Amino acid sequence: MSKRRKHSWPQPLKGAESRLWYGGDYNPDQWPEEVWDDDIRLMKKAGVNLVSVGIFSWAKIEPEEGKYDFDWLDRAIDKLGKAGIAVDLASATASPPMWLTQAHPEVLWKDERGDTVWPGAREHWRPTSPVFREYALNLCRRMAEHYKGNPYVVAWHVSNEYGCHNRFDYSDDAMRAFQKWCKKRYKTIDAVNEAWGTAFWAQHMNDFSEIIPPRYIGDGNFMNPGKLLDYKRFSSDVLKEFYIAERDVLESITPGLPLTTNFMVSAGGSMLDYDDWGAEVDFVSNDHYFTPGEAHFDEVAYAASLMDGISRKEPWFQMEHSTSAVNWRPINYRAEPGSVVRDSLAQVAMGADAICYFQWRQSKAGAEKWHSSMVPHAGEDSQIFRDVCELGADLGRLSDEGLMGTKTVKSKVAVVFDYESQWATEYTANPTQQVNHWTEPLDWFRALADNGITADVVPVRSDWDSYEIAVLPCVYMMSEETSRRVREFVANGGKLFVTYYTGLGDENDHIWLGGYPGSIRDVVGVRVEEFAPMGNDMPGALDHLDLDNGTVAHDFADVITSTADTSTVLASYKAERWTGMNEVPAIVANGYGDGRTVYVGCRLGRQGLAKSLPAMLGSMGLSDLAGDGRVLRVERADAAAANHFEFVFNRTHEPVTVDVEGEAIAASLAHVDDGRATIDPTGVVVLRR
Ligand code: GLA
Repeated sequence: MSKRRKHSWPQPLKGAESRLWYGGDYNPDQWPEEVWDDDIRLMKKAGVNLVSVGIFSWAKIEPEEGKYDFDWLDRAIDKLGKAGIAVDLASATASPPMWLTQAHPEVLWKDERGDTVWPGAREHWRPTSPVFREYALNLCRRMAEHYKGNPYVVAWHVSNEYGCHNRFDYSDDAMRAFQKWCKKRYKTIDAVNEAWGTAFWAQHMNDFSEIIPPRYIGDGNFMNPGKLLDYKRFSSDVLKEFYIAERDVLESITPGLPLTTNFMVSAGGSMLDYDDWGAEVDFVSNDHYFTPGEAHFDEVAYAASLMDGISRKEPWFQMEHSTSAVNWRPINYRAEPGSVVRDSLAQVAMGADAICYFQWRQSKAGAEKWHSSMVPHAGEDSQIFRDVCELGADLGRLSDEGLMGTKTVKSKVAVVFDYESQWATEYTANPTQQVNHWTEPLDWFRALADNGITADVVPVRSDWDSYEIAVLPCVYMMSEETSRRVREFVANGGKLFVTYYTGLGDENDHIWLGGYPGSIRDVVGVRVEEFAPMGNDMPGALDHLDLDNGTVAHDFADVITSTADTSTVLASYKAERWTGMNEVPAIVANGYGDGRTVYVGCRLGRQGLAKSLPAMLGSMGLSDLAGDGRVLRVERADAAAANHFEFVFNRTHEPVTVDVEGEAIAASLAHVDDGRATIDPTGVVVLRR
């Protein structure tokens, strides 16, 4: 991982004060200019103070090779700026124009089978193409030269969602780049052979030139897992290098103008290693789309907390989310009424100092005409636009009250997330397809919230070991270094939760031998010899296990065959004898050095974890940590605690009444009376404490 860039935030326009940024993607090029004045009027009405412009405008900015038309964009930016609306300007390189791909089809990326991915949508370029790189960097240069010193441009929005559509390219350009990447990482071909375990299935390579991408191998066959894992690393790195090249051109011409690129961090999203990317931006920004259904709010809070972790608690930017339905799911559910304000304030609570949407005005045509926006098809007279105005007013009030400059108060509990563990657990020849990394951190975040505890979600490379309590949920890959940190953390008094599927492989996904979890068996005081995956695709196979604490395990259980003398079994299975699982320990508490651990040897899901947590916390002497799980409480404060805010969200579908401290400064679907807040479903209150 590279050295982190210094955090730097888009500054207000000349003469304006520092406020929470509020706005969205603005695509004036989709509309006749008469609409622009109405856009500005409505933006003012909603309290919008920043928009992202030009993201998909390459074909309009450079309509023919070498011919540039900045006039329309100048007029749009000028209108915005004069109205006090700042611009987050795109490099405009995300979607190459037709003339380019017609002249240079070699920039198009290739799928696993070597088929060309044609233009017709966006991101139809390969990051390893020297030709594409030249065109894209040239556009960056032109954009920077033209907008250098423009008083209304406050940040660069470099490309857009790298890898959303072109994450894996299997072209010959990619092959050559992969060979180089392997050489840099491993130095010798023998080291690659060792890392990928090529002694298996005669995959030995004599030279770097024998390295090919993980191209199509026929259905039902299994790609070398080491190669596959490295291809995910490589693909993240190669897109990152492309971003860095764009960034460096922009920065060389407009030094000091903060740069970002929009990540796609959500509970299940693991395309690129965003924690690694976080080091390369001036401020991190995210695109997040809600998960319809019962997980909606918790997942928003979870993903926002992970962003705060990726940002190392520096202010971050919510670059896109939706006011309601998206257009890309099989069923595009409407967002629950009230969630415009509630979801955005959850992001603010978790450290966002900017709230933006995709997109300002709902398109009339094109692939995203059914995607919600700030100004819907229905226009100004609509509930969505009224919510957008209400949110603008709330963000304005929070700015007045001094929220800027505060940060999310560190929780006592860190739930660890790891991109590489996700990548390794996605492999199709693992013990089961029912388990991979990402669901478990979310279940823990939710189960802790059910017990009234708001955890911080933090990347494995961050300072999780500086928390009082840490959770390693299905952190499948555990390097020597992480294993050492685990050991020191607990020895020095840390409280650690570890689950099944943690610490199985090292950084090359080579199994730690001698019984699982190989590198930290002594710390957690258990030894696992086998796994008992569960499912219902084979009649009569084991499909669940009851625990004697009243919970039920699904999908996966460890066969724990021995426990340390220092340990206590908190729960065991109650099962028929033929299963071999009766009385096998399921949850085991242990003491190691000055610390305590609890090992959860099966998948209990959010409900089972929530129910088991009081006893698990009790075994660690942490019983008084629990609170009211009907609400999620998040605090933000500055270093001197002169400004201290609490956000209280209703997590249920019923109204809740809870005690609160301080003066209510914002409330949506809620009211506060004499230290008691009544919060409706989808409601929130913000208090100054
Ligand atoms: C992504 C893109 C946007 C838009 C939205 C739709 O986040 O960056 O341009 O396509 O998805 O949800």
